[in-house]
Amino acid sequence: MTLEHKRTDFAEDFLFGVSTSAYQIEGHSFGGAGPTHWDTFAATPGNVVNAENGDVACDHYHRWAEDLDLVAKGNFDVYRFSASWARVMPDGRKVNPEGLDYYDRLIDGMLERGIKPALTLYHWELPAALSDLGGWRNREIASWFADYAETLMARIGDRVWSTATINEFWCVSWLSHFLGHHAPGLRDVRAAARAIHHVLLAHGTATQALRAQGVGNLGAVFNLEYSQPADDSAEAQAAAARYDAIYNEAFLGPVFKRAYPESLLEGLGNHLPNGWQNDMDVISEPVDWVGINYYTRKLIAQAPGPYPSLTEIDGPLPKTYMGWEIYPQGLESFLKRVAENFSGDLPLYVTENGMAAPDPLVDGAIDDQDRIAYFDAHLSSVRNAIAAGVPVKGYFAWSLLDNYEWAFGYDKRFGLVHVDFDNLERTPKASYHAFRDSLSRA
Ligand code: FCB
Repeated sequence: MTLEHKRTDFAEDFLFGVSTSAYQIEGHSFGGAGPTHWDTFAATPGNVVNAENGDVACDHYHRWAEDLDLVAKGNFDVYRFSASWARVMPDGRKVNPEGLDYYDRLIDGMLERGIKPALTLYHWELPAALSDLGGWRNREIASWFADYAETLMARIGDRVWSTATINEFWCVSWLSHFLGHHAPGLRDVRAAARAIHHVLLAHGTATQALRAQGVGNLGAVFNLEYSQPADDSAEAQAAAARYDAIYNEAFLGPVFKRAYPESLLEGLGNHLPNGWQNDMDVISEPVDWVGINYYTRKLIAQAPGPYPSLTEIDGPLPKTYMGWEIYPQGLESFLKRVAENFSGDLPLYVTENGMAAPDPLVDGAIDDQDRIAYFDAHLSSVRNAIAAGVPVKGYFAWSLLDNYEWAFGYDKRFGLVHVDFDNLERTPKASYHAFRDSLSRA
């Protein structure tokens, strides 16, 4: 089976891409990369399945040429990738020339193959030395991050097509400092409130610094999750609204409207850094485009206890191997809502969308028809949004390769290309072939 959607169903300048991130594929034991808070988190029993880490991952650090060939031969226009702060600056501040050389080669490799480089500056591998100083809890991180951004872009900024500051503000802050599921694994409401504010401040500070440096096409990537009340009660509706405020509005609000949602201020106001209001000018520095990562929806109910007093309820829809319900309508709804309420005419890109599956190799092939159907359903949502006038300009699948899926280690496979983690051999799945055929310009 191939994709129902074809390149010709979209505007001539609509861009298709594949996404990855540095720590998930590169292999952090190579090339002078420094230790990151993910290494520490993974080394603490119970945090990551099998205590796996990104030491080798997909060995993309050595196999990048083969991987970029896969992007090009898959007929993708854009490769969305991230640079590792800890590779560029192993202790968070001092430059590792080998790291800069590596990203320089990688960018040239994309350009040689006719692929647009879509860079993300931070996709989660905070240098351990900065984590020791409080990481996202420390306000200084805004200037540390801007320094890193300027240093990297002085080397490659002339050749990247687009640059995103932060990947997924919610994961950097709430998931990592309140829920404790990602590094640094804290479960502390005050730490979470500070991380929320500082990751926004870091985004704005770096955006201003890069603008001053002459870098164009700057954006940010938000992960949006559709929340619905688990039942008709007023309590469930209020809980779902609180979830939406923490997950979605907490970040879109400050960047586009200079404001945190009211319910978030009621719950977290006491824990935000003093004088946070004065940072809104920096945080709302205009961006050129908006990235949306979308995977699923959540059913939410009221729960006893302090803010946010909510709980997730198991939903009835078909689920992926992550246990995430498949709900393509949520993507259409978010594309419309972001354009209407926040970003107006700015180009929107779906910067991540995809699903995990066990994907066993059978006779040397992976027939992932469920993934093809997932992509088709979400591409329909994108088309509906475009038909309604939303300026969606691209769609990037997560992910090129099976990779290190954070706290789930190597078990949850999201790739269009299968990776055998014993010998690191790459095998394109049926979904890869489906995209290749649908995107062909021949
Ligand atoms: C997103 C992350 C990405 C990957 C996918 C499945 O939240 O940006 O690194 O883990 O989820």
